[in-house]
Amino acid sequence: MEDKINEIKSDLEKDLANVKDLNDLTLLKVKYLGKKGLITDLTSNMKDLSIEKRKEVGRIVNEIKEEVLGKINALEEELKNKELTLKLEKEKVDISLPSRKLKRGSRHPFNRIVEDVEDFFVSMGYDVVDGPELETDENCFRLLNLPLGHPARDAQDTFYIDEEYLLRTQTSSVQARTMQGNIEKTPIRMICPGKVYRRDEDATHSHQFGQVEGLVIDKNISLADLKGTLELFAKKMLGENTKVRFRPSYFPFTEPSVEVDVSCFKCGGTGCALCKQTGWIEVLGAGMVHPNVLKMGGYDPAIWSGFAFGTGLDRFAMFRYAIPDIRYLYTNDIRFLEQFDRKDDENEIK
Ligand code: PHE
Repeated sequence: MEDKINEIKSDLEKDLANVKDLNDLTLLKVKYLGKKGLITDLTSNMKDLSIEKRKEVGRIVNEIKEEVLGKINALEEELKNKELTLKLEKEKVDISLPSRKLKRGSRHPFNRIVEDVEDFFVSMGYDVVDGPELETDENCFRLLNLPLGHPARDAQDTFYIDEEYLLRTQTSSVQARTMQGNIEKTPIRMICPGKVYRRDEDATHSHQFGQVEGLVIDKNISLADLKGTLELFAKKMLGENTKVRFRPSYFPFTEPSVEVDVSCFKCGGTGCALCKQTGWIEVLGAGMVHPNVLKMGGYDPAIWSGFAFGTGLDRFAMFRYAIPDIRYLYTNDIRFLEQFDRKDDENEIK
């Protein structure tokens, strides 16, 4: 036994001296301490010994086990440190190098306008609602008093999907949805900003553009409420000095209908190329909700009245950021977008 132990000890010293890395060390560990290792082997004939002898051998084997384990662990620690030092040497980084420039995103000019519009109307107690861009003919036209054959639903303007489905040409479709969806027929105060589609395309018209719809239904709503609301809205979006003008107009879903002009935001009303020397720019369609539309929406026109308005959002963005072509808003050109730095958010005129 003693001879065996001494042999193991001297072998171990030799083996330890030959260990070059952690891999070698694992193999060495198995050789001595594994299930069939040299030390475990010392206990192989224990069952033939007396109880006394067994105890003694057990003690001796445990001692040598501890000793071997201690040496292995010490070497392991040493090897690990060596490896780490090597790794640190190899992976040295020069922290004095300048960093690579990261591209930062910023809010899209269109969304900045939408958020301003929402802020204004939410402060007046309106809900912001949403509606699908793929709409039914019913919501986009029929329920808005635009029966079949009405010129405004001309296929030249509308992207039809099939007989019933189309890409909405106006957010007014959400008027119909909101009235239908309000089962209890309670008062409504909502705006719906969103995308609309028309078969149109040039520097001031895109086949896709943004509108915001507004709808108020309650008792005793009059044209004066509409005028007051839109005047405040125009001043908020275009500045306190903005003047507003209402002209009689026609929309199938409002009666009476108006078109709303604002004093030219470029020349202030004195006349320039943008306003075609008139001093005014048309920004909005609006009116009192047509009794037929109220009826189709489930509201009795003898009790309820309301107003609605719709305005293009792109024009506000084009004016505020001096964007010459509406299509820049939709083509996601990075050279255009990166001009809208985050800094603008802080400097924006509110
Ligand atoms: N939907 C109309 C348009 O797209 C605008 C409008 C909305 C007019 C609501 C009156 C009332 O031109």
